[in-house]
Amino acid sequence: MNRRRFVQTAGAGILTVAGGLWACQGSPTLPIPETRVGFKRLRRREARGALTAGMDAAIELGDDRRIEAWGYDGSTPGPVLRLRRGDTLDLTVRNALSQETTVHWHGLLPPPEMDGHPADSFAPGSTRRYVFPIDQRAGLSWYHPHPHRRVAEQVYRGLAGPILITDGQEDALGLPPGADEHVLILGDGELGAGSSLRYRSGTSSDRGGFPLVNGAAYPEARISGSLQRLRIVNAARARVFELGTRPERPLAVIGNDGGLLDRAQRVDRVTLGPGERVDLLMDPRSPAGDTGPFDLWCFRTSWSLVAFNVLGGGRKPGDLLPDTPPVAPLPEPAPGAERTFRFEGHSRINGTRFRMDQTAFRVPFGRTERWHFRSSGGTPHPIHVHGAHFQVESRRGGRGRVLPWERGWKDTVLLLNREEVSVRIRFDRYPGRYLLHCHRLEHEDEGMMLNFEVEA
Ligand code: C2O
Ligand code: CU
Ligand code: CU
Repeated sequence: MNRRRFVQTAGAGILTVAGGLWACQGSPTLPIPETRVGFKRLRRREARGALTAGMDAAIELGDDRRIEAWGYDGSTPGPVLRLRRGDTLDLTVRNALSQETTVHWHGLLPPPEMDGHPADSFAPGSTRRYVFPIDQRAGLSWYHPHPHRRVAEQVYRGLAGPILITDGQEDALGLPPGADEHVLILGDGELGAGSSLRYRSGTSSDRGGFPLVNGAAYPEARISGSLQRLRIVNAARARVFELGTRPERPLAVIGNDGGLLDRAQRVDRVTLGPGERVDLLMDPRSPAGDTGPFDLWCFRTSWSLVAFNVLGGGRKPGDLLPDTPPVAPLPEPAPGAERTFRFEGHSRINGTRFRMDQTAFRVPFGRTERWHFRSSGGTPHPIHVHGAHFQVESRRGGRGRVLPWERGWKDTVLLLNREEVSVRIRFDRYPGRYLLHCHRLEHEDEGMMLNFEVEA
């Protein structure tokens, strides 16, 4: 379904329900997630606030047409939590849903009891306070629910929001500021009856008939002619996006899950699995100087994700390949410090399904290990680890190599059919219980997840 067909189909659906007139076909303007309002820095480094998970948000279809969704503080995506390295986050989350929830800080490294484990879910009407220090490199993370067996539906209905951490290292690069920096939360949706979003559970397909970017279907954005920074989260529950521009504009990948890469690199396309993030620089002018409209495009689905219109002016485009800071490699793991995880079908890791009360394995604190993630059917599997970031060493089978956006630090890595990915990982923050799981959210809900214990 393309942009125009969608607008017609969605419009027709709404027309029937509302029984009103539907005048013109327009795409919504790309929503800009609000930066946390009322996020107070009480003392210099304390970011204190409140957030409500509720069922009172909306997806924008354009022309004032919308469908009901869930969100944080009434919006999907939720507000941007903008934090500085060295801050302490102090956030009280209220559950205004009709089911239990919990909040996981995907990409942050909190102590395990603040990590949003499903065992720490809280009931409708109750609150939970999360307090922990932010001490990690600048980068884009995100927050989303993690209750047992309900992650897919809650995220799909709109519960997800971005977290931006900044630090001095990043400041020094002078990357595109303000209006030239865009946080894009990707998802997909399917129209249900009336003005509702249809959720079908199940693990058999990508699902979702139309793309969503920041809670809007087929949005448009006006940008300057300056270099643009696109900071993208794949928050879809199952869909892999293959991102690029059409017609083509110069693109470079400068960062990913764990922050800036040690080397910015030109790319044409980026394959992004659920849970992964990418930080791109984009020159909105073609090499020939063309400033016509173009799309952020998904080449897997032939979806226009965002239609960009370049306004005149803007500063002179900066350097597409900034001089990013180095990333120190983790040491070579000691002989025997290895583990293999086979992701089987849509619900098993090494033959077992998740059990809340079971610890699958124990990892010594501070030891570097080599983990092998192997696909055994049911792909794609985006593999995510809580409690530490890892470095991708190799990929065998399938695409057969480490891709440019998989360098540096990652917390989620995509396995396509017949792929095996090996990573170096070290848990050196807090001992305790963490999760390893597939971030295809229906796989996670079905039990493709393990508890493990980092031992002091
Ligand atoms: Cu983004 Cu355990 O998840
Ligand atoms: Cu996570
Ligand atoms: Cu999976």
